Amino acid sequence: MQALRTLVNICRMFSPNKAHPSLVASVNRRVRIWIDKRDGLDFLLVVKPQELGLDENLIHRASPSGNKYLRKLLLDLDIQASDAILDVGCAKGSAMRTMLESPFAKVDGVEISQKLAAIASANFRRLGKVNAHIFNANAVDFDGYGNYDFLYFYNPFPAEVMRQTMAQVQRQLDPARELVIIYNTPICHDIVVKHGFTSIRDYPDQWGNGIRIYSNRPATSRLLAKPRA
Ligand SMILES: C[S@@+](CC[C@H](N)C(=O)[O-])C[C@H]1O[C@@H](n2cnc3c(N)ncnc32)[C@H](O)[C@@H]1O
Repeated sequence: MQALRTLVNICRMFSPNKAHPSLVASVNRRVRIWIDKRDGLDFLLVVKPQELGLDENLIHRASPSGNKYLRKLLLDLDIQASDAILDVGCAKGSAMRTMLESPFAKVDGVEISQKLAAIASANFRRLGKVNAHIFNANAVDFDGYGNYDFLYFYNPFPAEVMRQTMAQVQRQLDPARELVIIYNTPICHDIVVKHGFTSIRDYPDQWGNGIRIYSNRPATSRLLAKPRA
């Protein structure tokens, strides 16, 4: 990380009006990919559904969202040591890696692509993270939603798949327990609301699309008990 910071600072120093943010982000990303490769990890290289033999009309590409925006949001959510989170459509595990910086008991991911699920599992094995588990499954059929306090979606699929996934989540929901949904780039907001969730907070994301927080128990949500940072 020190090497990365140094390189970004050098870019800034030699730019006439400070480096353009997208140039800084691009250099930053390339350095992080290089550091990962050196460490035997692969969290950040983007893969298109066609390269995985998947239908691009049903599956969005595997781009990563483990970044400072997610880190900041999680700090604000007052995560407890008993909490469990599931990244629905986890790809190579970039967001999960950021989640593992919070005190979650369990950070799991479900991923439809066998190849991406294998890469994610290898990443967490390499990092020695025993509380991270990857399920290679279709989110529509996944039967473990009831085991989590938080679900994370980073725009993994279009509306029809979101509808089927949310119906599955709703079926497995324990109404006596709060389930929080963190939805990055919430293009299917209406579908989430239709399945019993209320939007309680908004946070910024990297691309200006926003990250929305929902709860099935908004009136008594533990999130609202803590003042926003
Ligand atoms: C935009 S990527 C998100 C990556 C990761 N969540 C992150 O934020 O770093 C979306 C991922 O969802 C996966 N996906 C799409 N449809 C899925 C489905 N029906 N079940 C499980 N995973 C799915 C894709 O293969 C892709 O890896």
